[in-house]
Amino acid sequence: MKFVILTDTHFVPAGRKLYGLDPAARLAIAVDTINATHRDIAFVIVTGDLAHWGEQGAYESLAAQLGRLDAPVILMLGNHDKRDAFRAVFPQADRDDHGFVQKMRVTDAATIVTMDTLNEDTPDHAGILCGARLKFLENALTSAPTDRPLLLFQHHPPFDSGLRYMDTIKLANGEDEWKVIARTRKPDYLFMGHLHRPIAGTWRGIPFHIQRALTHQVAFDFEAQGHIPGTHEAPDYSFVSVADGNVVIHHCSFLYDGPNFSLHDAEAQAAQSLEELSRRTD
Ligand SMILES: [Fe+2]
Repeated sequence: MKFVILTDTHFVPAGRKLYGLDPAARLAIAVDTINATHRDIAFVIVTGDLAHWGEQGAYESLAAQLGRLDAPVILMLGNHDKRDAFRAVFPQADRDDHGFVQKMRVTDAATIVTMDTLNEDTPDHAGILCGARLKFLENALTSAPTDRPLLLFQHHPPFDSGLRYMDTIKLANGEDEWKVIARTRKPDYLFMGHLHRPIAGTWRGIPFHIQRALTHQVAFDFEAQGHIPGTHEAPDYSFVSVADGNVVIHHCSFLYDGPNFSLHDAEAQAAQSLEELSRRTD
């Protein structure tokens, strides 16, 4: 199975920009690249913060772009999202028995579990897994087939990353999530968004991947406090392949427009500047 991860699209109503960027224009390029490059993916998953302020118009703009994807889309919510506006535009999105945007999908290659960590009751952007959502997670972890990897997706990390402000708005009750995992089953991989940086590692033995945002990024800054330092570093999406129990993740810098050349090309190797490289490999 192959799939693509996008996250933190932070859409605003059509025609508006955010931090000087146009999320719709940027997603349009990602969609074109994905359609042209990944003809055999099972789905594209967007792991939350679909909209920045949560207006219905922002979700309508997002729907227009996602509707151009050839592959099916799985949508998740993040701290910037508004559940009612999202539902109004995406009535067919996942919905569990309690109305949360979460689901377990069992495929031949892997089990995909998506969690809803949005807490609309608190304005600070931290995430939560309430009792109903923890119960959903427990049911998923205990009922999923054990003969294939279980991939867990959630917007908020349950642990500290070292990015000071972001650590104050992580999943507020990560220990409760851990208790469920500890008494049931460790996911084989944990995929998240929220931090707007590419980060990988392990959490209590579980390998994790945090996807860089589609829009603005969070700075590589471990000193800033009291606010989130932002940048315009280039975005990417990830292309993931799951086969024979193995998980391989590639990052695609879809905005890259620099030179492409063969590393074996002697003319390219001899170039002493980017201009010369372009001239020699034309
Ligand atoms: Fe975000």
